[in-house]
Amino acid sequence: MGISFNQSKRLFILDAGNCTYIMHLAECGFLEHAYYGPALAGVADADGGELLKHCFAPDSPRWKECESPASMAAEFSSNGIGDYARASGAIRTANGHIVAVPLYQSHRIYKGKAPLDGLPASYGSDSQCETLEITLFDEAARLEYILSYTVFEQLPVIARSLRVVNRADQPAVIERLYSATVDLPASPKGYDLISFPGAWARERQVERRAIAHGITAIGSTRGISSHQMNPAFVILDPETTETAGAAIGQVLLYSGSWQAEIELNPDSNLRTMIGINPTDFRWPLAAGEEFQTPEMLLIYARNGLEELTHASHDFFRRHILRGPWRDLERPVLINNWEATYFDFNEEKLLNLARTAAGLGCEMLVLDDGWFGHRDADNSSLGDWFVDLRKLPGGIDGLSRKIHDLGLKFGLWFEPEMISEDSELYRSHPDYCLHIDGRRRSIGRQQMMLDMSRPEVVDCVFGQLCKIFDNAQIDYMKWDCNRSVSEVGSAALPAERQGEVMHRYVLGFYDLLGRMRERYPNLLIEGCAGGGGRFDAGALCYTPQIWCSDNSDAVSRLAIQYGTSFFYPCSAMGAHVSDCPNHQVRRTTPFETRGLVALSGTFGYELDPSRISEEERRQIPAQIKRFHEVHHLVTNGDYYRNIAPGTSHLCAWSFVSKDKAECIAFAVTIFTVTRAPDYRLKLRGLDPAALYRTDDGQAYSGSVLMNVGLPIHADWRDANAQYWHLTMQK
Ligand code: DGJ
Repeated sequence: MGISFNQSKRLFILDAGNCTYIMHLAECGFLEHAYYGPALAGVADADGGELLKHCFAPDSPRWKECESPASMAAEFSSNGIGDYARASGAIRTANGHIVAVPLYQSHRIYKGKAPLDGLPASYGSDSQCETLEITLFDEAARLEYILSYTVFEQLPVIARSLRVVNRADQPAVIERLYSATVDLPASPKGYDLISFPGAWARERQVERRAIAHGITAIGSTRGISSHQMNPAFVILDPETTETAGAAIGQVLLYSGSWQAEIELNPDSNLRTMIGINPTDFRWPLAAGEEFQTPEMLLIYARNGLEELTHASHDFFRRHILRGPWRDLERPVLINNWEATYFDFNEEKLLNLARTAAGLGCEMLVLDDGWFGHRDADNSSLGDWFVDLRKLPGGIDGLSRKIHDLGLKFGLWFEPEMISEDSELYRSHPDYCLHIDGRRRSIGRQQMMLDMSRPEVVDCVFGQLCKIFDNAQIDYMKWDCNRSVSEVGSAALPAERQGEVMHRYVLGFYDLLGRMRERYPNLLIEGCAGGGGRFDAGALCYTPQIWCSDNSDAVSRLAIQYGTSFFYPCSAMGAHVSDCPNHQVRRTTPFETRGLVALSGTFGYELDPSRISEEERRQIPAQIKRFHEVHHLVTNGDYYRNIAPGTSHLCAWSFVSKDKAECIAFAVTIFTVTRAPDYRLKLRGLDPAALYRTDDGQAYSGSVLMNVGLPIHADWRDANAQYWHLTMQK
C-alpha cells in the first residue's frame, strides 16, 4: 500500500495490493488517467513514465492539431474542450455554461481516511490506509474539484469520491456529477460487462455481455438502489473466468437512485462512471457551498472473478461492516412473517417462541403488524405505537416474556413510510413525498415519507426512541416496501425540488445513523421488500440485509450466487421457510433449505409446530451445524464451484483462511436421467494436506481439487449434498 507523487515525471502513483493506479499531471495542470492494472515496479525509472503519458492533454501539440480525439484519458472529464465522450459532470455556472477545465491546484497525501459528511464511507485506521486528495480548480467557473483516492493495506481496493466547492460569488447548479470516472485504454479483445439486474423476489441475477460501441447505462430511478439493478458492476477481459484473467469491480456506496455509464468510444477506449442518477437531480450550489458525491470502490483482480470476490469480501469485512455485530455470530432467529402474516396475538407469538426455543432458536423476530391497527398492509405506517388488541402487555411486556424464555427479541419497522389511514397522515398530510396538483400514487397501499425534511426524520426518530427506550429489543428489521413516485417536498421552493431525491437518501442515512449511535448494540437488518436495497451504503449501517423475499431454496441459489460477487455471505439474510414455498409454490427437501440458509445469516421463517415431525427433528441438528461451521461463512473464502444455470447442478464452498477447514455444498437443481458424472472440484485447499470428511474418509487436497467429490444425482429435485472437511494435522 502506498501513494507517492513523482515530481520529475509528474506522476501520482497509487499502489494497492496487487495493482497500481497512476495519474499523470500534464504541464498545463490537466490530470490525465495514465494506468490501472497489475502492480508496476520501476515506473519512474528511465523512460517508463513516458509510456504512460497520453497525447491529448489540453496543452499537448497533438491535441491542438487534432482537436477532436474521441476522448481524453481523464480523471475528471468535461464536454466542450475536445473530449467527446460522456463527461464526469455538468455544473451550470451563472453564465449558463457547463464547460469545465479543472486544472491542478494542489494535493495532499495523509495517513488514514476522513469520513464523508452525511454519507456512508469505508473506513480504516492510519496504519491501514492512506489517502490522496487532489484539488483541481476551474478558474473561469471558480469551481474547485477535490478528487479523493484511498488505498488500503494488502487489498487491491481504491475508494474514490469527489467534492465540489463553489468559490465564485455567484450560484451554480449541479445537473450531473458522478463519483468517479475510470478510463481504460482500447483493448484488441474489447471488454465485457457483468451487471446484476433483477426484480422483486429475483434479485441480482448475473448478466454478462460484450460492451459495444456507444453508451451502456445501468441504474435505478426508484429512490432506492433497487431490486432491478444493483449498484455494482464488473468490467473484464472477454477471456476472464472465475479463476483466470483481469477484472475490475466498481461498487457504489449509495442506497438511492444511481447510474453507471459505460462508454466505448469510437477509438475503442472505455470510460466508466458511477454515481447519483442525474434523473430528477438538480443541486443548486450557492457561493461558498460544497457538494459531496457518494463514495465508490474500485476493486482489481488479476486472476479471475473469484479473486475479485475474495478481495471484495475481505474489504467489506474490514472496512465497510462495523459495530459490535461485525465479528459476532448472529443469533439464530425465528421470524413470524411467513408463520402468521398479520394474524397473530401474544399467545400465538409466545407459543411460536416456546417451540422455537425448545428447538434451539435464539431470537424471536416479530414482523409487520404489531402497531397502530394494522391487520393488513393498508394502514398504520407512521404510527409506531403498539396495537394493544394484539399485544395487551405492549412491546415491553412481550419483549420481557420472550427474554424470560431465553430468547432475544427483534422487531420490524418500516420507518420511511406512511399509510393514508394513519394518525400521522391525518395530522401531517404534507409529510409524504408529493407534488401539489398531482395524485399521490400508492404503492403497496402506502406512501413514502418526505425524508428530505429534518422534522420528518425527527418525528420518526422520536417515535422509535419511545419504543426502543421502553422495551428489551435486540434486533431491528428495517423494511422499505415501495419505490418513489411524484418526488416533491412541501418544504422546498420550486427551484430546489431537484434536491429532494438525494436529500431523502441523506435523511435515511441520518435516521439510521442516529439509531446506531443511540443503540450501539442493536443488530439492524436492512430490508426493502426483500433485497431492494442490498448495497454497500446500507451495509455501512446494517451488517446484514434480507437478501430476498423469495425464500425458495432453488431460487435462492441464483440470488445468493449473484449477491456473492461483491457482498460477503455473512451479510445475506437467509431463512429456512415452509413448503410449498410461499413465493413460488415449490417443494424442496428441508435439508436443502437448511444448507442454502446456512450459507447466509441463517434463521427460520415458519411455524415449527406446523411442519412434519421429520422436518422438526432436523432443526436442532441444523442449528448445531450452524454453530460449528458458521465461522467459515463469516471469515472464510467463498468459492463459486458450479454456477447455477450452467447445468442441472449448483455448487459452492467456503475455505478457512488457513486452509484447514472447508464446507462444500452441491444441489441437484433438477434431476436428469443418466446424469453426467460431474464432480465437485474444490478450490483453495492445500494440495499437499490430507483432509478428512465428517464420516471419516480422507483425501488429499490435490485429489479434492483435481478429481473432485462425486455428486449424486438423486432421484429427487433440489437434493443437496454437504461436506465438512478438516485438515489432518
Ligand atoms: C417485506 C419483507 O421483505 C418481508 O420479509 C416482510 O417483512 C414484509 N415486508 C412485511 O410487510
